[in-house]
Parts: sequence; structure tokens; C-alpha cells
Amino acid sequence: MQCLGIDIGGSGIKGAPVATATGELTAERERLETPQPATPDAVADTVARVVDHFDWEGPIGCTFPAVVRSGVVHTAANVDKTWIGTDAATLFGQRTGRDVVVMNDADLAGVAEMQFGAGKGVDGQVVMITLGTGIGSALFYRGVLVPNTELGHIQLDGRDAEEFASGRVREDDDLGWKEWGKRVGAYLHALEDLLWPDLFILGGGVSKKSDKFLPSVDIRTPVVPATLLNNAGIVGAALMAAAAT
Ligand code: BGC
Repeated sequence: MQCLGIDIGGSGIKGAPVATATGELTAERERLETPQPATPDAVADTVARVVDHFDWEGPIGCTFPAVVRSGVVHTAANVDKTWIGTDAATLFGQRTGRDVVVMNDADLAGVAEMQFGAGKGVDGQVVMITLGTGIGSALFYRGVLVPNTELGHIQLDGRDAEEFASGRVREDDDLGWKEWGKRVGAYLHALEDLLWPDLFILGGGVSKKSDKFLPSVDIRTPVVPATLLNNAGIVGAALMAAAAT
């Protein structure tokens, strides 16, 4: 079976058809700039352009960088505030004329990593953390997702963890890999004291550079980089679209 996975991010909206049995992309990804301002209508138009690019008629899954319950967006830490209360699944469904499943971006990246990547075959508790513009989280126990955990917003040192250890903070504050790695370590240490996971998977663009900062992450829980890199969101979105049909 093939489903179209679409990954909505702050700078780009990327999509590709995915063979859901293998997690392979079956065509080259299409990437369009995220419209600015990224209002619901403007984003829905861009999603529809990605769907049209592939002449797609089958099921569609979409990531969204916020809390999403039953297709409705409930928060907007890093997206246009007009999203709050928007039924994204219905909006994208109307705009594309297809069934669209919409879920949190980190949850879907985690679903892909558990199925085909760094979490494959790990049966206990796994926490995937994405270190991008924001910090996203996905919590699994025995392979089952507990959605919308929002662990990027725990308080650390008197501030939102996302303001302390995200990939954006590293760039904005020009932190060295070692210094930033220590911050990531402090953040993961706070999480391991609360959750006692068996494994942390670190995703987001920086997972490619894990050799630079992982040596500075000094915690008791095993930590591995994500393996699907840029495609995790697309693959996870396609998997959830397949599960919903
Ligand atoms: C949002 C999460 C999202 C994460 C990564 C956070 O600011 O609250 O919902 O998963 O950023 O995009």
C-alpha cells in the first residue's frame, strides 16, 4: 500500500508517497516553502499543491508542529496563533478532496523511527526527542504511542526547556557543540529522572551531527540518533494514514 506523507514545518512543507510496508519513498520528495504568514488557509493551499504535484488520490497523512487531538490544533508555540482551534484534518480534507490524517510532528517522526529506524524492536519505554526550532517529543511503551506529550515544554532552570536546548537556541546563541551537548544532557537528565525510559532517540536536523554533541551528553539512559533523518515525518504521516484506512 502507498500513502502520501506530508511534513509541515516552519520553513518547508515536504511530501512524498511512501510504501508503508517498507517505509521507502517511492518518488522524489516535493518541497515547497511554508507560506508567511503561515495561516491555516495559506498552509492548506500549499498542502493541496503538494497533493496535486503527485496527482494523489489515496490516503494522506500530515504532520503539524503543535498539539493535535482528533485533527484539531490546540497549541501554537512556533506557528501562527490563528491555528489554535482549527480543525486541520477537516480543512486539509476539504481543500484536497481526500481523507487527511493530521497528528503532531514529533509523534509521527517517532512512529516512523519505531517502525523502521532507531527504535525498531525496542520493546520497553522509548522517548524520541526532536531538537529543531522547537523541542518535540514522542513517548512509546511496548511500541504504543502516547500522543501529544509536549515534553519540550518542561521547566528547566526556570525556563521552558525549548528556550534552553533546542536546535534553534544553539544557532541563535552561537553555542559550541560541546556547550549545547551539555544543555541537551541536562534536559535529557531531567526527563530520565521523571520517566525512566529504556532509550532516548534524538531526531531533528541535528541528528546528523550527533558525533559532535553526543559525547557531551552524560546521562545514564542509552541515547541514539534517529536514522530516518529528514524523512521521518513523511514516513510516519504515511504510516498513520495507512492505519486510518
Ligand atoms: C510544539 C510541539 C512540536 C515541537 C516540534 C513545540 O514547540 O509545542 O507540539 O512537536 O515544537 O515542532
